[in-house]
Amino acid sequence: MVQSQTFILIKTEKVFPPVNICVNLLLGKIKKKMNTQQNITAENKLIEFLYPNETKIIHGDTLTELKKIKDEQFDLIITSPPYNVGKEYEVKTSIEKYLQLQEEVIKEIIRVTSKTGSICWQVGNYVEKGEIFPLDIYYYQIFKKFGLKLRNRIIWHFGHGLHARNRFSGRYETILWFTKNDEYIFNLDDVRIPSKYPGKRYFKGPKKGQISGNPKGKNPSDIWEIIIKDWDSGLWNIPNVKSNHPEKTVHPAQFPVELVERCVLALTNKNSWILDPYAGVGTTAIAALKNFRNSVGIEKEKDYIAIAEKRIEMLKAGALKLRPINKPIHQPKPNDKIAKIPEEWNNLFSEL
Ligand SMILES: C[S@@+](CC[C@H](N)C(=O)[O-])C[C@H]1O[C@@H](n2cnc3c(N)ncnc32)[C@H](O)[C@@H]1O
Repeated sequence: MVQSQTFILIKTEKVFPPVNICVNLLLGKIKKKMNTQQNITAENKLIEFLYPNETKIIHGDTLTELKKIKDEQFDLIITSPPYNVGKEYEVKTSIEKYLQLQEEVIKEIIRVTSKTGSICWQVGNYVEKGEIFPLDIYYYQIFKKFGLKLRNRIIWHFGHGLHARNRFSGRYETILWFTKNDEYIFNLDDVRIPSKYPGKRYFKGPKKGQISGNPKGKNPSDIWEIIIKDWDSGLWNIPNVKSNHPEKTVHPAQFPVELVERCVLALTNKNSWILDPYAGVGTTAIAALKNFRNSVGIEKEKDYIAIAEKRIEMLKAGALKLRPINKPIHQPKPNDKIAKIPEEWNNLFSEL
């Protein structure tokens, strides 16, 4: 059962805040005059109003389940496939075998994508005996072979991860965004970010003196550069979901809701259908539901589906912890113990 405090949290949702606020206030007044059963009914109706879209997670094998889906059903297929790195949900095989199977999956994925639809394929590296194989390089060739067009190779930069010893520590993964055709859904205005210098003006030419920026903000970009400071650099600096992240579940390779949300908002319309063929703990479903889109997921592990269902339930109850956009996970202040050079190191330097 949904707790009444739920609605205080729902009020802070970015989409349609005035409606949510009005409904919550009204509901608060009405609820005082209702019995428990009436209360539950009213709450359920409000949830239906705030999250009217469909969400379905199919338990099964991706390729088998994809074959059951009709052509051109989805405006967006967004996923992070298994990387063949030996995570608990996969059996590591040769890169050739892995890619061969993935090619079969991709063929089906393209078939179920709508004519104006997009595919976002989020991958990192496959590693063998210390050698890295950037998976997007391999995947690009598969998608290209099927005639898809790459619109962006988005660098997903994150500040945390394993510290490498024999190479530089990896701090990014990529999202390959392909479209099926030249005409495709792209809602740039829905994902603009605040401009760093909104007051900037043209300093020469026919527009001299006029404001050069867009009042809706700037394009979030796909820029490849060494990050200096989060959003200032225009990079997609969405921290990956590690242990101190509010969205963390037991899944070992969960991606952040925020990352999916940006693709959902830019590449689909309200009430579009979205597919995640490797659904994990339902991150895509949450991003879709939050933004008035329908979604289907396919996942072979029952335990992950159970977590996904729980997360969806919590979202509807306003109890799911989500990292607000733009907020760094943790930024130590200069005086925090963790930000200071340890005393032991001071001694070490004085000895040199
Ligand atoms: C990288 S994870 C995706 C995590 C997801 N993006 C999330 O945020 O929770 C890949 C997922 O694919 C699932 N998977 C791997 N092979 C599969 C298959 N053949 N059929 C269905 N699911 C599969 C795994 O169990 C795992 O949850």
